[in-house]
Amino acid sequence: MDAMEALYTTRAMRRVKTDPIPERVQKKILDAAIRAPTGGNTQGWRFLLVDDPGVKSRLAPVYRGCMETLWGSIYKDRIDAATAAPQEEESVEFMKMFRSASHLAEHFEDYPLILFAFCQYDNSGGSIFPAVWNAMLAARTEGVGSALTSVFFLQLDDMRKILGVPDEGDWHFSACVTFGYPTGRWGVAPRRPAHEVSFRNSWDGDLGLKIPEPLFSLD
Ligand SMILES: Cc1cc2nc3c(=O)[nH]c(=O)nc-3n(C[C@H](O)[C@H](O)[C@H](O)COP(=O)(O)O)c2cc1C
Repeated sequence: MDAMEALYTTRAMRRVKTDPIPERVQKKILDAAIRAPTGGNTQGWRFLLVDDPGVKSRLAPVYRGCMETLWGSIYKDRIDAATAAPQEEESVEFMKMFRSASHLAEHFEDYPLILFAFCQYDNSGGSIFPAVWNAMLAARTEGVGSALTSVFFLQLDDMRKILGVPDEGDWHFSACVTFGYPTGRWGVAPRRPAHEVSFRNSWDGDLGLKIPEPLFSLD
């Protein structure tokens, strides 16, 4: 697959089948992850693959509890605004994400493979998210969808206990990524154009470029 296709179409793919992810693909996901850069090449990371139904069924209610907390706190205003003005374009987009993220929570234990990424001595995330994204891109090249989630940060102790994460070693939870073969189709991620969020030489300096359309399309 062309690199641009993988980059542009690796979306939050939350509606997936329960079919298992073959070992060959699991290897590709992990091997791509550990090719990513880390500060000083320290590679202070640990990846846990979860596919045991018992472990998933213990994690699922924790995940759902976290999402409920999230919707009732950080996202409460956006949910209220979208409910009050459902026709607004922003509301429509938000509610799509809300329904999709809720679907993930409701079906957490049905995802055939879930990856947990932990890192040591890195508060910025800079030494772990390139690896997480590599894993997601590698999955994409195999037709496997993924969704990056961070919401377990709201109930870290429960999640760490279920996974047996040690207290020593300064291991921080970074991300939980669900994987699965999509039930729907791939698409290019819609975003605010780059020229609206990019500048040149100073904070609001004229960029001198316009990129009104995505530079890759699936047609
Ligand atoms: C740091 C980070 C944390 C995220 N946490 C969650 C999460 O907890 N639950 C979830 O369903 N999606 C989560 N997402 C996925 C985003 O909602 C998703 O990437 C965004 O809506 C864009 O989706 P799209 O690429 O399909 O357009 C997270 C993404 C990032 C980058």
